[in-house]
Amino acid sequence: MFIAMNRFRVAPGSETDFEQVWLSRDVHLRTVPGFESFHLLRGPEQDDHVLYASHTVWASKAAFEAWTRSDAFREAHRNAGQSGARTMYLGPPQFEGFEVLQTVDRD
Ligand code: HEM
Repeated sequence: MFIAMNRFRVAPGSETDFEQVWLSRDVHLRTVPGFESFHLLRGPEQDDHVLYASHTVWASKAAFEAWTRSDAFREAHRNAGQSGARTMYLGPPQFEGFEVLQTVDRD
């Protein structure tokens, strides 16, 4: 299992715009091979930004990497970087990928 996360530092006052872009987007993930789940996360507020993260669970690192080269990825990012992105974000997103070493589920 592999978890891919992107952190977004959103300027104070742009939270609603950011959430609107994400919550109203066309999702292209549901039929992607190896895709398991997606969460949009809102994190702590700092003085100069609010932290958000996208959190995606994949069957394997290979499945995640195949998605990044797919039409589904291109479609999902067709409008990324547009519509006020320059003022909405403090900078580019910060990507982190994690190999899952242990999973504990409820009985
Ligand atoms: C390895 C790099 C990246 C990963 C893993 C990633 C992950 C994702 C995922 C999982 C989605 C949702 C796709 C869907 O629902 O079908 C998404 C959409 C989005 N990503 Fe990325 N992304 C990456 C690069 C970027 C970059 C560089 C930017 C900023 C320039 C960005 C900005 C966005 C935005 C704004 C959306 C919402 C799309 C919309 O406008 O409707 N992503 N990304």
